[in-house]
Amino acid sequence: MTLCVALDLASARENLKLAEQLSGEKIWFKVGLRSFIRDGWGFLDELDRAGGAKPVFLDLKLHDIPKTMADAAEAIADRGVAMFNLHASAGPSGLATVMDRLSARSSRPLVLGVTALTSLSEQEFEALYHAPLEPTAAAMARSCHEAGLDGVVCSVHEVGAIKSATRSDFLALTPGIRLAHNGEDDQNRIASPAQAQKQGSDFIVMGRPIYGAKDPAAVVQEVLGTL
Ligand code: C5P
Repeated sequence: MTLCVALDLASARENLKLAEQLSGEKIWFKVGLRSFIRDGWGFLDELDRAGGAKPVFLDLKLHDIPKTMADAAEAIADRGVAMFNLHASAGPSGLATVMDRLSARSSRPLVLGVTALTSLSEQEFEALYHAPLEPTAAAMARSCHEAGLDGVVCSVHEVGAIKSATRSDFLALTPGIRLAHNGEDDQNRIASPAQAQKQGSDFIVMGRPIYGAKDPAAVVQEVLGTL
């Protein structure tokens, strides 16, 4: 299992300082909406230099019509990031269009579909989708698998159902990871790194428990030590 550290800090300078502190660790970096909208592609170049050229997961959660998503996916692939994501609920034709476009290339990033955001409780999900969370997340995962994506983003609690509905090597990336002494923040379907490992997550994402700590490198080592 691989730890992705979310670089969601309030400035590029703070993110790069964190990346430098963690440059010796065997981790990936996750660049999401806040950092990418503010600091753009130049930040990824600087991150490569500061953070020891680690693989980057670009977490932009594309959700648009098929052509727009495929055009964006190609622009992302041109920049050589290791992994990016789009919303599974953008629909099967959007997922297929993205994968068709990317498969015409000699190499492409890993592509993950977002199922149910980890910030949603089961009740909130049901009120939005008029369907129960776990089977719906598994159905979303199945459509991602059929379209040729490499995996999904889900909570630790759905990993088992999703792997049974697809394949055991269909990737599961799980945010909402907290250590025993951390608060939930705005996450709802949380789990510990050890639970994620037990359920078969391939990647865990941690932001605030790491960048909000006094000694982020010590937290990273604590997490890696439990895997
Ligand atoms: O700070 P925290 O550990 O909650 O950070 C989780 C990160 O994972 C955030 O950057 C958030 O945008 C991202 N994420 C998520 N849930 C998803 C997909 C991504 O929390 N379903």
